[in-house]
Amino acid sequence: MLKVGVIGIGMMGSTHLDAYAKLKGVKVTAVADLIRERREGRAVAAGNVKGQSQGGVDFAPFRKYDEGMKLIADLELDIVDICLPTPLHAKYAIAALKAGKHVLTEKPFALDGKTADQLAAAAKTAKTLLMCAMCMRFWPAWAWLKDAVDKKTFGKVLAAQFRRVTSHPGGPFYSDGDACGGAILDLHIHDTDFIQYCFGMPSGVFSRGYAKDTTRIDHVVTHYLYPQIPLVTAEGGWAMTPGFGFQMQYTVNFEQATAVFDLGATDQLKVIQNGKTKAVKVKAGMGYQHEIAYFVECIKNGKRPQVVEPASAARSVKIVEAEVKSIKTGKLVAV
Ligand SMILES: NC(=O)c1ccc[n+]([C@@H]2O[C@H](COP(=O)([O-])OP(=O)(O)OC[C@H]3O[C@@H](n4cnc5c(N)ncnc54)[C@H](O)[C@@H]3O)[C@@H](O)[C@H]2O)c1
Repeated sequence: MLKVGVIGIGMMGSTHLDAYAKLKGVKVTAVADLIRERREGRAVAAGNVKGQSQGGVDFAPFRKYDEGMKLIADLELDIVDICLPTPLHAKYAIAALKAGKHVLTEKPFALDGKTADQLAAAAKTAKTLLMCAMCMRFWPAWAWLKDAVDKKTFGKVLAAQFRRVTSHPGGPFYSDGDACGGAILDLHIHDTDFIQYCFGMPSGVFSRGYAKDTTRIDHVVTHYLYPQIPLVTAEGGWAMTPGFGFQMQYTVNFEQATAVFDLGATDQLKVIQNGKTKAVKVKAGMGYQHEIAYFVECIKNGKRPQVVEPASAARSVKIVEAEVKSIKTGKLVAV
């Protein structure tokens, strides 16, 4: 039985606790949060996606720590799961690797590309495994898309458009641009990362955007430049007016079909081909539980996680940095 300690019991910590509770061969035995009512399970945070964090987990058996470093020193733990605010990801992940733990850390890897590279370098020399929780790579309808792109099921991709927009989530972490990096790093990175996963590194980016709820970019549209694909774009932001809701969508135009995903639709994934629209059934569940199940399997099998390699998670931070630079300069930025 693999034993897990989760650091940071906010929105994502609660989501991860739910995911572990559904898995066999792994169990959470410790939690850490500076806020007493969170580490005691008396505060349940909701996420963007309905059903993300159910909050039915029994905290009574957990060892409880206030400071995350105390949990990292817990000798009983095999896995440390880091759901801390972004500026702490790299520091705590490196400390946990040094303490001989396997580490799952929330996205983004770090606030800047240099720190993200340091974390990726630490994973290279560690005997234990490190994975960044880039959950879209595991979201069933998105994993389906990656497969269709790789296998050219419908021919080559001509255009790919991603969209992730909502209103500001509120709270101190998401209101502090220096801590969360604005929507461009906190929210839109999901699409930047998925684009990199599907199509590799773009040669450059051209972005437009603005700050609204933080001092950083809170709404962005980016063109990702690829020699082999005419049009790859993503819109991301939390600058919509309160009450707007959460939209997560893609439209990918292949040579022989168009694939459409809409989180809010009854049939979330559809393929339009030869004039007919077909709903596509994919496996149930959200990316969070599949990513955690995958990481646990990697540990059990002693295999480095290939779906999200540390260097790839670091590259996504660097593409976002280029997007910010493009907005600031008004120019196309080479990546
Ligand atoms: N994968 C996703 O879809 C997704 C979604 C939302 C957030 N996130 C990421 O997850 C991370 C956490 O986000 P959140 O919304 O859960 O934030 P949050 O503010 O709700 O939770 C963070 C928690 O960490 C605790 N904490 C801070 N410093 C600590 C320390 N030194 N020791 C112990 N506890 C400490 C805080 O008290 C807080 O409860 C962020 O980096 C965010 O970008 C990922």
